[in-house]
Amino acid sequence: MRIGIYPGSFDPMTIGHLDILKEASTLFDTIYIAVLCNSAKNPVFSVEERTEMIRKVIVAEGIENAVCESFDGLLVDFARKKGASFIVRGLRATSDFEYEFQIDAVNRHLEPRIKTIYFMASPEHSFLSSSNVREMGHWGGDITGLVPEVIRTTISERLLKK
Ligand code: PNS
Repeated sequence: MRIGIYPGSFDPMTIGHLDILKEASTLFDTIYIAVLCNSAKNPVFSVEERTEMIRKVIVAEGIENAVCESFDGLLVDFARKKGASFIVRGLRATSDFEYEFQIDAVNRHLEPRIKTIYFMASPEHSFLSSSNVREMGHWGGDITGLVPEVIRTTISERLLKK
Protein backbone atom coordinates (compact mmCIF):
# COMPACT_ATOMS: atom_id res chain seq x y z
CA MET A 1 0.00 0.00 0.00
CA ARG A 2 1.35 3.39 -0.99
CA ILE A 3 0.22 5.96 1.55
CA GLY A 4 0.71 9.71 1.37
CA ILE A 5 0.02 12.58 3.75
CA TYR A 6 -1.00 16.03 2.55
CA PRO A 7 -0.65 18.24 5.65
CA GLY A 8 -1.53 21.86 6.21
CA SER A 9 -3.51 24.44 8.07
CA PHE A 10 -6.21 24.61 5.36
CA ASP A 11 -7.67 27.77 6.92
CA PRO A 12 -9.66 27.43 4.69
CA MET A 13 -9.07 24.96 1.85
CA THR A 14 -8.59 26.76 -1.49
CA ILE A 15 -8.98 25.60 -5.06
CA GLY A 16 -5.16 25.43 -5.17
CA HIS A 17 -5.18 22.88 -2.32
CA LEU A 18 -7.85 20.93 -4.19
CA ASP A 19 -5.74 20.83 -7.38
CA ILE A 20 -2.85 19.36 -5.40
CA LEU A 21 -5.07 16.88 -3.60
CA LYS A 22 -6.48 15.66 -6.93
CA GLU A 23 -3.01 15.19 -8.40
CA ALA A 24 -1.67 13.48 -5.27
CA SER A 25 -4.67 11.16 -5.12
CA THR A 26 -3.58 9.60 -8.42
CA LEU A 27 -0.20 8.60 -6.94
CA PHE A 28 -1.30 6.90 -3.72
CA ASP A 29 -3.61 4.11 -2.63
CA THR A 30 -4.65 6.34 0.26
CA ILE A 31 -3.96 10.03 0.70
CA TYR A 32 -4.58 11.52 4.14
CA ILE A 33 -5.32 15.23 4.29
CA ALA A 34 -3.89 16.07 7.69
CA VAL A 35 -5.29 19.26 9.22
CA LEU A 36 -3.09 20.80 11.88
CA CYS A 37 -5.02 21.37 15.14
CA ASN A 38 -3.03 23.75 17.26
CA SER A 39 -1.27 26.04 14.91
CA ALA A 40 0.66 29.04 16.18
CA LYS A 41 -1.11 30.78 13.29
CA ASN A 42 -4.36 31.13 15.29
CA PRO A 43 -6.70 29.77 12.65
CA VAL A 44 -9.98 31.53 11.87
CA PHE A 45 -11.82 28.25 11.21
CA SER A 46 -11.84 25.71 14.00
CA VAL A 47 -10.24 22.36 13.31
CA GLU A 48 -13.72 20.80 13.23
CA GLU A 49 -14.89 23.33 10.62
CA ARG A 50 -11.80 22.79 8.50
CA THR A 51 -11.99 18.99 8.55
CA GLU A 52 -15.74 18.99 7.93
CA MET A 53 -15.36 21.30 4.93
CA ILE A 54 -12.57 19.16 3.44
CA ARG A 55 -14.65 16.02 3.92
CA LYS A 56 -17.50 17.69 2.00
CA VAL A 57 -15.11 18.55 -0.82
CA ILE A 58 -13.76 14.98 -0.95
CA VAL A 59 -17.31 13.63 -1.34
CA ALA A 60 -18.35 16.28 -3.88
CA GLU A 61 -15.23 15.65 -5.98
CA GLY A 62 -15.53 11.86 -5.65
CA ILE A 63 -11.93 11.42 -4.47
CA GLU A 64 -12.49 7.96 -3.08
CA ASN A 65 -9.00 7.31 -1.74
CA ALA A 66 -8.79 10.57 0.25
CA VAL A 67 -9.34 10.66 4.01
CA CYS A 68 -9.34 13.86 6.06
CA GLU A 69 -8.15 13.78 9.68
CA SER A 70 -6.82 16.32 12.12
CA PHE A 71 -3.52 15.96 13.88
CA ASP A 72 -1.61 17.50 16.71
CA GLY A 73 2.08 17.24 17.52
CA LEU A 74 4.71 16.27 14.99
CA LEU A 75 3.75 15.58 11.41
CA VAL A 76 6.23 12.71 11.12
CA ASP A 77 4.55 10.99 14.10
CA PHE A 78 1.19 11.24 12.35
CA ALA A 79 2.79 9.96 9.13
CA ARG A 80 4.38 7.01 10.95
CA LYS A 81 1.08 6.16 12.62
CA LYS A 82 -0.59 6.03 9.20
CA GLY A 83 2.23 4.00 7.64
CA ALA A 84 2.96 6.78 5.15
CA SER A 85 6.23 7.01 3.24
CA PHE A 86 5.53 10.34 1.56
CA ILE A 87 4.48 13.85 2.54
CA VAL A 88 2.93 16.01 -0.18
CA ARG A 89 3.29 19.79 -0.31
CA GLY A 90 2.43 22.43 -2.88
CA LEU A 91 4.74 25.15 -4.19
CA ARG A 92 3.39 28.35 -5.68
CA ALA A 93 6.33 30.67 -6.12
CA THR A 94 9.98 30.90 -5.16
CA SER A 95 8.82 32.66 -1.98
CA ASP A 96 7.44 29.32 -0.75
CA PHE A 97 10.79 27.63 -1.19
CA GLU A 98 12.56 28.92 1.91
CA TYR A 99 9.67 27.91 4.17
CA GLU A 100 9.32 24.48 2.58
CA PHE A 101 13.06 23.95 2.71
CA GLN A 102 12.98 24.46 6.48
CA ILE A 103 10.01 22.15 7.04
CA ASP A 104 11.71 19.50 4.92
CA ALA A 105 14.98 19.83 6.84
CA VAL A 106 13.20 19.37 10.18
CA ASN A 107 11.16 16.41 8.96
CA ARG A 108 14.25 14.75 7.43
CA HIS A 109 16.09 15.15 10.70
CA LEU A 110 13.21 13.57 12.62
CA GLU A 111 12.43 10.78 10.15
CA PRO A 112 14.77 10.37 7.15
CA ARG A 113 12.72 7.49 5.75
CA ILE A 114 9.73 9.73 5.02
CA LYS A 115 10.26 11.76 1.84
CA THR A 116 8.49 14.97 0.84
CA ILE A 117 7.33 15.49 -2.73
CA TYR A 118 6.18 18.81 -4.18
CA PHE A 119 3.55 19.75 -6.70
CA MET A 120 3.74 23.07 -8.51
CA ALA A 121 0.56 25.11 -8.31
CA SER A 122 -0.97 25.89 -11.68
CA PRO A 123 0.02 29.41 -12.83
CA GLU A 124 -3.52 30.78 -12.50
CA HIS A 125 -3.48 29.85 -8.81
CA SER A 126 0.03 31.02 -8.01
CA PHE A 127 -1.29 34.13 -6.21
CA LEU A 128 -3.87 32.20 -4.22
CA SER A 129 -3.52 31.54 -0.51
CA SER A 130 -5.83 30.85 2.42
CA SER A 131 -4.83 34.21 3.88
CA ASN A 132 -5.89 36.22 0.83
CA VAL A 133 -9.17 34.25 0.71
CA ARG A 134 -9.71 35.21 4.36
CA GLU A 135 -8.98 38.86 3.59
CA MET A 136 -11.26 39.00 0.54
CA GLY A 137 -14.04 37.12 2.30
CA HIS A 138 -13.88 39.27 5.38
CA TRP A 139 -14.50 42.43 3.34
CA GLY A 140 -17.23 40.85 1.24
CA GLY A 141 -15.10 40.25 -1.86
CA ASP A 142 -16.18 37.56 -4.31
CA ILE A 143 -14.29 34.32 -3.69
CA THR A 144 -16.04 32.36 -6.44
CA GLY A 145 -13.54 30.13 -8.22
CA LEU A 146 -10.97 30.52 -5.44
CA VAL A 147 -12.36 27.91 -3.06
CA PRO A 148 -14.15 24.63 -3.84
CA GLU A 149 -17.72 25.52 -4.84
CA VAL A 150 -19.35 23.12 -2.36
CA ILE A 151 -17.88 25.06 0.60
CA ARG A 152 -17.93 28.58 -0.88
CA THR A 153 -21.07 29.81 0.92
CA THR A 154 -19.99 28.36 4.25
CA ILE A 155 -16.63 30.13 3.93
CA SER A 156 -18.10 33.47 2.79
CA GLU A 157 -20.74 33.57 5.51
CA ARG A 158 -18.26 32.64 8.20
CA LEU A 159 -15.67 35.20 7.09
CA LEU A 160 -18.20 38.03 6.95
CA LYS A 161 -19.10 37.31 10.58
CA LYS A 162 -15.47 37.27 11.72
O1 PNS B 1 -0.43 25.03 5.64
P1 PNS B 1 0.78 25.27 6.47
O2 PNS B 1 0.42 26.09 7.69
O3 PNS B 1 1.90 25.87 5.69
O4 PNS B 1 1.28 23.82 7.00
C1 PNS B 1 2.37 23.70 7.87
C2 PNS B 1 2.47 22.29 8.47
C3 PNS B 1 1.16 21.89 9.10
C4 PNS B 1 2.82 21.30 7.37
C5 PNS B 1 3.62 22.31 9.54
O5 PNS B 1 3.44 23.43 10.37
C6 PNS B 1 3.64 21.06 10.41
O6 PNS B 1 3.89 19.98 9.93
N1 PNS B 1 3.34 21.23 11.70
C7 PNS B 1 3.29 20.14 12.66
C8 PNS B 1 4.45 20.21 13.65
C9 PNS B 1 5.69 19.62 13.03
O7 PNS B 1 5.75 18.48 12.65
N2 PNS B 1 6.73 20.47 12.89
C10 PNS B 1 7.95 20.05 12.23
C11 PNS B 1 7.95 20.47 10.78
S1 PNS B 1 7.99 22.26 10.66
